[in-house]
Amino acid sequence: MHSLRTLSLLAAVAAFAPLARPADAVAQLTIDASRPGAVINPNIYGQFTEHLGRCIYEGIWVEPDSPIPNVRGIRSDVVAALKKLKVPQVRWPGGCFADEYHWRDGIGPRESRPAMINTHWGGVVENNHFGTHEFLDFCEQIGAEPYICLNVGSGTVQEAMEWVEYMTSDADSPMANLRRKNGRDKPWKIRYLAIGNESWGCGGNMTPQFYADNFRRYNTFVKNYDRENPINRIACGPDGGNYEWTETLMKNGGRMNGLALHNYTLPSGSWRGPKGSATKFGEPEYFATLRNTLKMEELVTKHSAIMDKYDPQKRVGLVVDEWGVWTDVEPGTNPGFLYQQNSLRDAILAAINLHIFQAHADRVTMANIAQMINVLQSMILTDKEKILLTPTYHVFEMLNVHQGAKSLPISLTSPDYAVGGEKIPAVSASASRNAAGKIHVSFTNADPNRPIAVECKLEGVSATAVSGRVLTAPAINSVNTFAAPDTVAPQAFDGATLAGGNLRVTLPAKSVVVLEL
Ligand code: AHR
Repeated sequence: MHSLRTLSLLAAVAAFAPLARPADAVAQLTIDASRPGAVINPNIYGQFTEHLGRCIYEGIWVEPDSPIPNVRGIRSDVVAALKKLKVPQVRWPGGCFADEYHWRDGIGPRESRPAMINTHWGGVVENNHFGTHEFLDFCEQIGAEPYICLNVGSGTVQEAMEWVEYMTSDADSPMANLRRKNGRDKPWKIRYLAIGNESWGCGGNMTPQFYADNFRRYNTFVKNYDRENPINRIACGPDGGNYEWTETLMKNGGRMNGLALHNYTLPSGSWRGPKGSATKFGEPEYFATLRNTLKMEELVTKHSAIMDKYDPQKRVGLVVDEWGVWTDVEPGTNPGFLYQQNSLRDAILAAINLHIFQAHADRVTMANIAQMINVLQSMILTDKEKILLTPTYHVFEMLNVHQGAKSLPISLTSPDYAVGGEKIPAVSASASRNAAGKIHVSFTNADPNRPIAVECKLEGVSATAVSGRVLTAPAINSVNTFAAPDTVAPQAFDGATLAGGNLRVTLPAKSVVVLEL
């Protein structure tokens, strides 16, 4: 048995089992509604769009004269699907691409914008048809805040400074007037700005001290033209367990609002050799992937502890602005395009990570799953005029009830899910109470072989009704396809009952469940 206290958590799953099958394993959960914790920042449900493969081009942008229905070149089916997700913020233009991106190439008449080679992602020619105006139009269409990443690696301070002026100044100034000339009178509101991406790697291979100095320098010239909406400045943070990076930045980075952590889950656990298929895997690979993703708990805990030393008042957020499962690409697709399918396993993995972020809501203020469309762990896959919603999309839609709610402390004791002599907790959970007083509890059962009953003690609340939804599927590697788009889709859940003020839930094998009390 695994016992997890307070706002800590964790998870488990099994092969397809009918919802009615009785549970032969029991987890114990206590939710203390009398001691609400930090607000779960909606920004934890953020997304990431990079000029990579078919994320921007085809996924979002189809040109205004496309037969695919669009508004000013942005596809309408994708916008409609994303609006339902309540996407809080979107990161752009990269990723590694950001440190080669020169924003002036992406403004003005599209036919005269210069092209460039996208050296990181397939060496394709980027025509710059999707630039600042198009991205910010996309954000407005889906109702999300933009989160812009500046080019520190190959750009200049002047270039960065002028981009900020171009986007946010309302003055009669050179950059604001250039924006007006290009068709946008009012400045945009830019609340989140990253100063470089992976500066320890593709963003310039810098040492932590060299980057800390550069962060301070760039940060000096990022001006708040819109004083009512000051810019949150996010520094490039560590790669996984690089604690020295966090230590150096917290000590020497100067004034920042966020420190970005990147951590991907690889089924194989290694960047060397194959990472593992997105669809062709058995239970050992499934188990290993979920075991590997639990590393996020350790990373967030340890980086937070370093941040606590320098920032005990928690003014600086830990911003996990790249995370998700990274598998081998789909056979026959361009290896540089990072196109992968998305299974029930990935949905469970997403929920486990969101639970981790919510358990650390006092420090984790933003997160961006990589990436939104057609790249890595996507919400949406497209094929010309067709789109499908992935299992991960459904998890984001189901769990977004936690956005902006107060996290509630939980104490969870979970049965183990064991494979090949190793074990992880089978169940993870997270609870919150929103402004209307509704309590939402989300669960994962990672064990694919057995349902698990959860006996929940509710403290500080008398619930009178419970309803919910469940996401499961016939197999751990079930996916949605263009021919069968609803194989993995949420259904009404009738496995929860209230009795004597307590809640009993039977989590189907390999499932994600969200309840409303
Ligand atoms: O998300 C794909 C890539 O992964 C990003 O461009 C980079 O920042 C990271 O290494």
